[in-house]
Amino acid sequence: MSGTKPRVFVTRRLPQPALDRLEQHAEVVVNPEDRVLTREELLEGVHWCDALLPLLTDLIDARVMDENAGLRIIANCAVGYNNVNVAAATVRGIPVTNTPGVLTETTADLAWSLMMATARRIVEADNFLRNGQFEGWAPMMLLGLDIYGKTLGIIGMGQIGRAMARRALGFLMRTLYYDAAPVQVEEWLQATPVDMETLLRESDFVTVHVPLTPETQHLIDETALGKMKDTAILINTSRGPVVDEAALVKALQEGVIAGAGLDVFEREPALAEGLAELDNVVIVPHIGSASVETRTKMALLAADNIIARITGQPLLTCVNPEVLS
Ligand code: GLV
Repeated sequence: MSGTKPRVFVTRRLPQPALDRLEQHAEVVVNPEDRVLTREELLEGVHWCDALLPLLTDLIDARVMDENAGLRIIANCAVGYNNVNVAAATVRGIPVTNTPGVLTETTADLAWSLMMATARRIVEADNFLRNGQFEGWAPMMLLGLDIYGKTLGIIGMGQIGRAMARRALGFLMRTLYYDAAPVQVEEWLQATPVDMETLLRESDFVTVHVPLTPETQHLIDETALGKMKDTAILINTSRGPVVDEAALVKALQEGVIAGAGLDVFEREPALAEGLAELDNVVIVPHIGSASVETRTKMALLAADNIIARITGQPLLTCVNPEVLS
């Protein structure tokens, strides 16, 4: 690394314990504004640093990497790393790390909350009450759908998918899952592997937990939505472009499916036309891992990867380990 102390550029303010830990090993510069950096600001920061700590809102492409031939690590503070051109980093010998594991339970909690909030119309009911529409208990008021005992379909059976299966046990649900890759799933989770078609056809709740890749872009499109039950609810806490949002709006408007709980959107922070007007969706602004504890753990893990790189120790969570061999 250049200079006496390695230089770390952090693209947005993170929980202080992670910054404190980094400062013990490096000169740290943090984006002083509470907003996403402009392209120019990002390039300027990369030009200066030995180690980059970006967020999922930063596009780290080949151009960014070429700004600094001395860049030693890209420590993305997210489990998903579709914002980083990993192939370009690999060609340039730059390790890329992410933050798996530490956000598994928190993200599954949010997906489960969306499932319950959508099925039981929690947001709609809250608005109804606040708007002064509650005139007393009524037998047909705000009827939702049961969750317990239903069929849960999990698309993508990684750590978060399995955390969903674990929650489903407590709700006496039947769990189906589909994963394009061969996965080892613990027998006690009582989850049955099925093809995508069966999962879509038989599930009351379909929850998506895949990374965004060219193969998963628009995995849930008009055709897939058409295969779902008209009483089914779609949950997406993965990445927005995995779902064709315009097709989803149409399906929700036309009653092709019953509802959706969404944490992620195709063109964040914008929403597809018509989405926010629908009563049968619950939408939250990409807060899957947004707990104090988990965001701290994510930032610490990203910091620890940088410190490992600086001090010549093995990286904790490298997504392109071939660059190190
Ligand atoms: C959040 O979306 C993440 O990938 O960590």
